[in-house]
Amino acid sequence: MSKPESGTAADTATDTAADTGGARNEPAVRMDDVAVRFRSRKRDVTALRDVAMDVAMGEFVAIVGPSGCGKSTLLKLVAGLLKPSSGTVRLRGERVGGPRHDIGYVFQRAALLEWRSARKNILLQAEMRRMPAEQARRRTAELIEMTGLRGFEDALPHELSGGMQQRVALCRALLHEPPVLLMDEPFGALDALTREQLNVEMNRIWRETGTTVLLVTHSIAEAAYLANRVVVMTDRPGTIAEVIDVDLPPERDYAATMARPEFARVTNRIRTLLGAGAAAD
Ligand SMILES: Nc1ncnc2c1ncn2[C@@H]1O[C@H](COP(=O)(O)OP(=O)(O)O)[C@@H](O)[C@H]1O
Ligand SMILES: [Mg+2]
Repeated sequence: MSKPESGTAADTATDTAADTGGARNEPAVRMDDVAVRFRSRKRDVTALRDVAMDVAMGEFVAIVGPSGCGKSTLLKLVAGLLKPSSGTVRLRGERVGGPRHDIGYVFQRAALLEWRSARKNILLQAEMRRMPAEQARRRTAELIEMTGLRGFEDALPHELSGGMQQRVALCRALLHEPPVLLMDEPFGALDALTREQLNVEMNRIWRETGTTVLLVTHSIAEAAYLANRVVVMTDRPGTIAEVIDVDLPPERDYAATMARPEFARVTNRIRTLLGAGAAAD
C-alpha cells in the first residue's frame, strides 16, 4: 500500500512551509504562481491565475468554487494533461511535464466499458500498465472487498446501480496504488443517500490506503466532511480565495461529524466565501 511517507495526514497538513527539499519532505503536489490561459481565434479565456498551493502527502484536499472557475483545469494540470501557461506544477517534487502515471483519476461519469464485467473494468488499469497478472488479481480482490463490491464482480455495468458503477471506477483508479488520487465531482450524479454512503466509504478508503486526495465537489457538506483542508476558489479567472483548515479527526462518523460546531464553522465559511445563499458548483 502507498502509505504516506511520514506521519498522518493531520501531522503533515501543517508543515508545508517547512519544506526543505528531499523526497521525504516533498509535498505530494506543489503549485507555484500558476496561470492557465486558453487562446483561440474567437476568444481568450484566463481559466486560472496566481494559483499557489501545497498538498502534503496523505492529505485530503477538497476544492470548491463557482462553475467555470477552473477546478477541472487545476486537476488536469496535476495529471499532466494540460500545461500551465506560466508557473510550475510539481508532483512529489518532480516538475510535471507530461501525462503522469502515478495518479488515479475519477470523473463524474464512471466511463465503464459496457461489455466488460466489473472485475474486467477494474483490470483495464492493469492491462494498460502491463501490471503482473498475479499482483493485479490480488489487488483487484482487495479493492472489491474494500468497496463492498463482493458478489458483483461478474456483473456488467448496466446491471450495477450508479453508486456501484462509481465504486468500480474508484477501484480502477486505485488499482496501481497511486500516491495521488484526483476526483472530479465523482459523486455529483448520485442520489443524496448513495452519495452519503460513498462519502463514508471514501473517508475509510482514504484512511486505509493513505493516498493523497484532491477532490473537486459541488457539495459544501461533502467538502467539509471529507477534507483536511478546503480550497475555496473565486469566480473566473479562478484563483484561491481562501484555504480553510478542517479541524476534525481523520475518522469521521457521518451524523456525529455533521453535528459538530467545527463542521458548521467550515460550511458557513465556505458559504460566506461563495456568496450568501449561493451553492457551490
Ligand atoms: N480546452 C479548453 N479550451 C478553451 N477553454 C477551456 C478549455 N477547458 C476549459 N476552458 C475554459 O476554462 C474555464 C475553466 O474551465 P473548467 O476548469 O472546466 O471549470 P470548472 O471545472 O471549475 O467548472 C471555463 O471558462 C472553460 O470554458
Ligand atoms: Mg469541472
